[in-house]
Amino acid sequence: MLNLQVVNKFRKIFQKLKFRVAAIFIAVIFGMVFLSIQPAQTQQPVVLNLLMTAPDAQPWRQGIIKDFEIKNPGIRINIIEGPNATNLLEDLYTSAFILGDSPYDLVNMDVIWTPKFAAANWLLDLTDRITQQELTAFSRLDVEGRRYKGKLYAIPMRSDVGMLYYREDLLKEAGFNPPESFEDLVKISQSLQQKGKVNWGYVWQGKQYEGLSAMFVEILEGFGGYWVNPETLEVGLDQPETLAAIEFLKNTIQIGISPPGVTTYQEEETRRIFQNGNSAFLRNWPYVWPLANAESSPIDGKIAIKPMVHTKNGNSGACLGGWALGISKSTKHPEAAWKAISYFTSEEAQRKFVLEAGFVPSRRSLFLDPQIVAKYPHYPQLLKVVDQAVLRPPIAQYAQTSDILQRYLSAALTSRMTPEVAMKNAASETRQLLGR
Ligand code: GLC
Repeated sequence: MLNLQVVNKFRKIFQKLKFRVAAIFIAVIFGMVFLSIQPAQTQQPVVLNLLMTAPDAQPWRQGIIKDFEIKNPGIRINIIEGPNATNLLEDLYTSAFILGDSPYDLVNMDVIWTPKFAAANWLLDLTDRITQQELTAFSRLDVEGRRYKGKLYAIPMRSDVGMLYYREDLLKEAGFNPPESFEDLVKISQSLQQKGKVNWGYVWQGKQYEGLSAMFVEILEGFGGYWVNPETLEVGLDQPETLAAIEFLKNTIQIGISPPGVTTYQEEETRRIFQNGNSAFLRNWPYVWPLANAESSPIDGKIAIKPMVHTKNGNSGACLGGWALGISKSTKHPEAAWKAISYFTSEEAQRKFVLEAGFVPSRRSLFLDPQIVAKYPHYPQLLKVVDQAVLRPPIAQYAQTSDILQRYLSAALTSRMTPEVAMKNAASETRQLLGR
């Protein structure tokens, strides 16, 4: 009897358990099915954050981002607009990386930042993502600037080179050939000013910021000087060629071919003066071309472009600029970020970007592309300039090196220090920084 009761009890417990096990089993199956359906229904796109200067954002948004998002519906590019000076933008990226867990997935890098960002371990190594063969489609200097200690950290999105713009119409009318030397530039400027054709002869970037260093390496190259030798870390700032280059720039203000305010100008201030028809010459990047030649521009069709003037001992200096895309080490979406880089640096995207914004491609074939040449006939020549461009020293301490030059050069240009004293200090601070 007892046995029968025990058996019945166990049977009931067993039946209950069977019921529970079955219930749990069904719940698990339902849960799994639910979970596998759920993300598909509510899946949010991967968002890649990308910081850039505000003027750059416009052409990005106009075309290539839309195209990329259509091709990749699961990925969205979120542009964050930053200040319009590359060194301020660099500060934003730098502080985000230093604080850790940077909000930026893609890193839009000026050519001068890569060694610093790579040395600080803020970027993913991209070396194995692209073959040597694929890299040969890009200009060599554009790629070299993105390597650090043999590894590749960014893919060039666009190149850039400093050029001399001039009023072809006014020079022709006055019987002048385009200038070759610094003396020519001064002589033509003064003559056109005296004739009342222009208020100013020559406008350039003289404000204390990165653009000052970029402009200065061109004048320095023209006088046969150098800033820092990246191999030996020798510093040439206190050499006679550097002082002659500074004297030339100071002189443009003293004799009135450059406005006194030039020591506060960035690229855009100088472009506006030139575009309004108020200057015969302008030092700037190729983005100016489509703007100055727009239908609404007073100088539409009246300008030409050439490499910078130089002395007998120097060369035409065209500073290499340009922007490349890397991936932040802290991103949660490295694969999506690589997809974006592959598209934005592709021939198709670059062609569109260049046609829209007048930027310089980093892919060599595009300099000869029929659509691009039809719009920018000077691009085949520009390829030669890119190949011989002058690099700002590609060293990890570049930001501090440039900061030293900017401070002392600005002091010399605004006569707060003599060029000799300013450059003696700049050279010794730079040597100290580089451990020379
Ligand atoms: C342009 C160049 C960049 C340079 C900057 C200076 O954006 O592409 O390399 O540092 O101008 O203002």
